[in-house]
Amino acid sequence: MRILFVSSEVFPFAKTGGLADVSASLPRALQAIGHQVNVLMPAYRGVLAAAQPLGVRLRHATEIDGHGLRLFESRLPGSRNKLWLLDCPALFDRAGNPYHNESGHDWPDNPVRFALLCRVAALLACDAFGLGWQADVLHCNDWQTGLVPLLLHEQAARPAVVFTIHNLAYQGLFPESAFHALRLPARHWHPDALEFHGQMSFIKGGIVFADRVTTVSPTYAAEIRTAAFGCGLEGLLQHRSAVLSGILNGIDTSVWNPLRDPALAQGFGATSLTEKRVNKRAIQSELGLAEDADSVLLGSIGRLAEQKGVDLIAGALPALLRGGAQFVLLGSGDSRYEQALAELSLAFPGRVALRLGYDEGLAHRIEAGADIFLMPSRFEPCGLNQMYSLRYGTLPVVHGVGGLADTVVDACEASMKDGSATGFVFHEPSAAALGECALRAITLWRENPEAWARMQVRGMRTDFSWRASARAYEDLYAAALAQLHAARCA
Ligand code: ADP
Ligand code: GLC
Repeated sequence: MRILFVSSEVFPFAKTGGLADVSASLPRALQAIGHQVNVLMPAYRGVLAAAQPLGVRLRHATEIDGHGLRLFESRLPGSRNKLWLLDCPALFDRAGNPYHNESGHDWPDNPVRFALLCRVAALLACDAFGLGWQADVLHCNDWQTGLVPLLLHEQAARPAVVFTIHNLAYQGLFPESAFHALRLPARHWHPDALEFHGQMSFIKGGIVFADRVTTVSPTYAAEIRTAAFGCGLEGLLQHRSAVLSGILNGIDTSVWNPLRDPALAQGFGATSLTEKRVNKRAIQSELGLAEDADSVLLGSIGRLAEQKGVDLIAGALPALLRGGAQFVLLGSGDSRYEQALAELSLAFPGRVALRLGYDEGLAHRIEAGADIFLMPSRFEPCGLNQMYSLRYGTLPVVHGVGGLADTVVDACEASMKDGSATGFVFHEPSAAALGECALRAITLWRENPEAWARMQVRGMRTDFSWRASARAYEDLYAAALAQLHAARCA
């Protein structure tokens, strides 16, 4: 199949979260099983320069909605996947991140910026630019691509369209005026289309009009049909149940390989676990923590957002730190949480290392050096960090929701006995429940190193590669295509 994969972030060119990792690794995995997967993303500031070593050539120049744009072609690093870069300096050549400026304020013209990405994706998939390539399947990701299914819906010759929800909490909601400014057909200003309680919703375009809707874990696919996780879209998602499914994300096992990770002080694997200690000492020294093998080192990495339960960590930590634990957090986001964590690090000097910012190498070294990884997300569509942790022998403590429930096996009596346990799961999103669960983990770490090592090995040997999930997407694409053909012939 020829697949066009559209995403607003692709690692290593632009990344604010797991979407970028998935957008880089799933296309590669699909290419590896025989498909042709071309990726489209905006050329934000610096992207064309970053792609230069891989070769960049101009494929098309045109004007859409008054915006002059150029389409460049490059490659995903280390792959045969084509990467198409949508260059429109007026909209994308800016300081800051893909969605907001340097002070964290959303770009006011985000609807225009991502509507352009959607229009270009729809045209490109149908070879409207004359590049000699037409997609069988167009795979869209998150609200930034939500208008694509709507734009293609009524077109006679079109690819099958798949829309993946990576996070339902981000819906691309804008005032009604944004809808009119985009000059979309007036009939789409309707609750059965883009209107959502008086606002324009990009994500509804994807959920309502795609041939298949997926999300990134089976548990999250079930959760979003309920009021607790559906963010107001649970009714629509129930209505779309027949085409909605969950496919668990994989991870890039070459980027996240503890045996050959250039960021680490020392490579290690399931048969050389003792070498992990070298990484613990190295990260303790790097962060200015006491180089003490007997202090349990807790780690956490991620966006400081309500989703991630940072406040639960801040609530549970004092007791754990008083009990002798050390803690490192790498993240950035909401200043409320940055403040709470900064206070904690002042209250526990030498025991808490706080690194505000984004640092890929440090993320790898924390995964390798920590003993326990805390991930108390209130909701988690999939989550990648718990899988990175499992692969690096760092046992995760997680809230049992979404992808966390699908990837971590709690160390209960039965799973310890049959050898399936890989981490620690709690079920109430509260600081007390997190604290209790982390204490359960720390106690096992201290008192039963053999059982701990067995769990580490189990986690490190679990297959989190894309192999199985790439096949699941392949089946889904084929089913969507078959249905489209059948409808056309009818
Ligand atoms: P989400 O997409 O909701 O942020 P995921 O767990 O799916 O959560 O993916 C987060 C990705 O971003 C992981 O690859 C993680 O290592 C990375 N990440 C998040 N924050 C940082 C940071 N401050 N520095 C380095 N990497 C980070
Ligand atoms: C989102 C989700 C995260 C998921 C990632 C990649 O950002 O919050 O759970 O792993 O997308 O699918």
